[in-house]
Formats: sequence, structure tokens, C-alpha cells
Amino acid sequence: MKCRRCKAEAEVALPSHNTAFCRDCFLLYFSRQVDHAIRRHAMFTRADRVLVALSGGKDSLSLMLELANLGYSATGLHVDLGIPVSSERARKRVEDFCAMHGLDLKVVELAAEGLAIPEVKEAVYRPVCSICGKIKRHYFNRMALEGGYTALATGHNLDDEVARLFANTLRWDEAYLSDQGPCLPDEGGFARKVKPLYRLSEFETAAYAFLRGIEHHKDACPYSPGASFTSHKKLWGELEWKSPGSKVSFYEGFLERGRPAFADRDREKGFELRPCASCGSPTSQELCGVCRVRAAVAERRGG
Ligand code: AMP
Ligand code: FES
Ligand code: ZN
Repeated sequence: MKCRRCKAEAEVALPSHNTAFCRDCFLLYFSRQVDHAIRRHAMFTRADRVLVALSGGKDSLSLMLELANLGYSATGLHVDLGIPVSSERARKRVEDFCAMHGLDLKVVELAAEGLAIPEVKEAVYRPVCSICGKIKRHYFNRMALEGGYTALATGHNLDDEVARLFANTLRWDEAYLSDQGPCLPDEGGFARKVKPLYRLSEFETAAYAFLRGIEHHKDACPYSPGASFTSHKKLWGELEWKSPGSKVSFYEGFLERGRPAFADRDREKGFELRPCASCGSPTSQELCGVCRVRAAVAERRGG
């Protein structure tokens, strides 16, 4: 197969786009998709400072490298979850990557915050993954606001977004459907959240990471039974196979026509948000959810 742009031997086939590219033209295509997403949704400009949440996986590291290559001002943020072996490996991947490419990195250690995930797991009687996600988002937000960054970027790709949207559509979750997308504005104590990889599939970010020689963390979290939305992703893989372009059109169609139909159905509306008495994050209670988890961990330690 030949590259669509330059007619050299193709290295990456993209059935969704009915095309194939050689290495250089694929990297150019990837850059253009990222830049197009950023500009189309006015996520940020080259004058802004962006904080990029780096898990050590292929998506977030690819995003960071591409933002730096495109000339955006990007600083990495890694949240070290304090899980033996797995967190050490993930953190080392992120640190080595940033050192190799001369990129700025900030690290939050949950153990130093009294929130090491193994301790949280023992102290709280809910599934640890959802609490872990909440803790990560809490620190993403705090670090972005405290550091004066314009936006907080995550490495969510098209497959992540489609699978999540699909799951929420199956449940007709109005709060979610009213308020989801690749660029959520800063308001009410929340930093702007952006997902510049939302138009690129998991396969495309994996191909990018491979072609750029990015060493990434591949191990699954020891506490989660598997990646999230695995069965929905499989289903969408089949749909895409039979009808290339389905994922992008489902997601873009939602942004254009679905989301506006659910405007103002936000579950949070009606709740008065105020600053947490301990950390200042927005919450509807005296203490925010993360400070309550921290208190539960401290109590368990003390008792
Ligand atoms: P996940 O929910 O694990 O698929 O992660 C989605 C996105 O969240 C990643 O692409 C990262 O941008 C970010 N992320 C996840 N875990 C971490 C972490 N421990 N530290 C920093 N960012 C993270
Ligand atoms: Fe948070 Fe597994 S419990 S990544
Ligand atoms: Zn708090």
C-alpha cells in the first residue's frame, strides 16, 4: 500500500479514514489532528500555560510530546499513587521521559498527602478505582489552579470518549450528557479541562508512541479488574470495522446535536458549591470528598 500524501511505502493503515501513511506523513497527520482539535474548541493558544496529566501510559506521553513539538507551553503533572511496584514503575517512566525531552514535570505524592491508594483501599468501603479517580481529578484541578495554568489536559483518546459516552447514553445519564466534551470551561473553582487527543483512536496514539520511540508504562493497575469500558470498546471496534468512521461521527454528532439537547440538566445545579473548609476545593458539603477520605485514612491509622 502507498502513502496517500507522498506515495512512499505506507507504514500505518487507517481504515476509518480510508487511507494509509508512511512514517513522516502519519506523524504530520497526527500533529494536524491535535492542532485542529485545540483550535476548533479554543482549548488554549501558544500564549497559554498548559498542565498535562501524565500517567506514564502511551496516550498522555504522546500528547505531551506533541504539544511540546507544536510549540505549546506544556508542563507535566504526575500523581504518584503510592501503589508498590506499579506506581514506582509508572513514575520512573514519566520522569525518564520528561528528562529525556527536557520537559518540566511536577509530581504529587499521595503518600505524602495522607492518601496512598493502598491505605485508602483499606479505609474506605467503596470500590477503590472510583475514589482513586476522584483523588487524581482533585489534584489535577488544585495543581492547575494553584500554578496559574490556563488548562489541564488529559490523554483521553477517541476510543475512551466514545466508550464513556456510549455507557452514559445507555443509562441516559442527563448530567453527563449535558456537560461532557473535549473542552470544559473553567468555572466555579474548576480549571478548564481539555482532551486534545479526542479525535485520535487508541490505535493511532499507539502507532504514534511506537514511531516516536516513547517507552511507556503498560501494566494494568493491580487494583482494577481490567481497563474501563472494555466490552463497549470491543463493540465499537466491530462497528468501526463494519462501518469505518462510526466512532468519530457518533462523538462529533453528540457534540453538535446531542449535548445541546441536554443543556441545563446538570445534576450539580441546585447545589450551592462553596470552598472546602480544609483545602478550599469546591464542594457542596463542609469538607470535600477527598478531605473526607483523608480523614478516614487518618482515623484508621490512629485506631
Ligand atoms: P485513565 O483513566 O487511567 O485512562 O487515564 C486518563 C488520563 O488521565 C491519562 O491519559 C492521563 O492524562 C491522566 N492520568 C491518569 N492517571 C494519572 C496519574 N497517576 N498521574 C497523572 N495523570 C494521570
Ligand atoms: Fe487508581 Fe488503579 S486504583 S489506577
Ligand atoms: Zn478538601
